[in-house]
Amino acid sequence: MFEGNRVIAHTRSRYPIFQSPMTWIARAPLVTAVSAAGGMGLLENSIRDLSVTTREFTAIRAATNQPFGVNLPIRYLQMDPQEEKAIIDWLLGQGIHFVTTSAGDPTRYTRLLKDAGVTVYHATATLRGAIKAVEEAGVDGLIVEGAESAGIRNPEEVHTFALLQAVRERVDVPLVAAGGIVDGRGMAAAFALGAEGVTMGTRFVASHESPVHINYKNAIVAAPVTGTIMTDNPPRARSRGLRTPYSVEVSEGKRERLARGNLIDALYVNGDVDNTSGAAGESAGLIHEIKSVRQIIDHTIEGFWREIDRLAALRPRQ
Ligand SMILES: Cc1cc2nc3c(=O)[nH]c(=O)nc-3n(C[C@H](O)[C@H](O)[C@H](O)COP(=O)(O)O)c2cc1C
Repeated sequence: MFEGNRVIAHTRSRYPIFQSPMTWIARAPLVTAVSAAGGMGLLENSIRDLSVTTREFTAIRAATNQPFGVNLPIRYLQMDPQEEKAIIDWLLGQGIHFVTTSAGDPTRYTRLLKDAGVTVYHATATLRGAIKAVEEAGVDGLIVEGAESAGIRNPEEVHTFALLQAVRERVDVPLVAAGGIVDGRGMAAAFALGAEGVTMGTRFVASHESPVHINYKNAIVAAPVTGTIMTDNPPRARSRGLRTPYSVEVSEGKRERLARGNLIDALYVNGDVDNTSGAAGESAGLIHEIKSVRQIIDHTIEGFWREIDRLAALRPRQ
């Protein structure tokens, strides 16, 4: 299965399916479930706290012997040089084989990690960022995030369909597509455009193993394909989240944006969907039920091969 697939060769996972490194959400229960089901779980690190990282890492190692990786959100780690050094030093001592980097300059850690034998994929939302990551930083692969993705977005980015092809034309490293993918149909489309793997964020938020409040999961399930909105996220980014009374008012400048810690309390823990806007991609409109992580991954793989067979059958027999 997946003969010659470079993403699997790098991750050592059964399937080329990543789970996005989502703040507070991509911790031991979700990462373990994804890895145990054959996907590539990625432990998030965005609150810059080595004690949290080591606690979650230890819990994942104890719960599964399947491969998983760690994400380094560069700009967030840089904000506290001491904690940044502590996390990088710790990481290099763990024998971790796979790291993703995001949100920042990919030259910052790539050489250091690669010299220690770690495979590095960098997440980028622009063609320029992709070329820089490959040519200047020397990353082993890219996560290519289209503008329909959830969360903090680069104002310059374009959507997955065009972006994947543009990046594929210019670089040779394996690509993992992110943004708008929830199942095997999306995965097959991404592969047709040049990807060798996919990442899903919103789909895994609406899983049984995701730690967020049920109201957030239900809001994703209920969202139509127009159910997300972009709001300013100063100083320079924008952010895609669920369209709610709160996010509409923020987008119109009538209401202040909540700090990230307040969002976690209000929505993830207490389930207040009206006065918050949980990160969600346009993919929310394609999600119609909460599933277990294993169902999500199994259904994605089954659907992928179904689509490949359907397309192959279009070719006339000789
Ligand atoms: C709840 C949530 C939180 C996210 N947090 C982060 C984050 O902390 N860092 C990051 O690089 N991307 C984050 N993302 C974006 C994902 O990495 C990815 O680009 C996106 O989920 C892909 O689109 P999809 O949601 O349609 O699958 C987040 C996404 C979601 C849904």
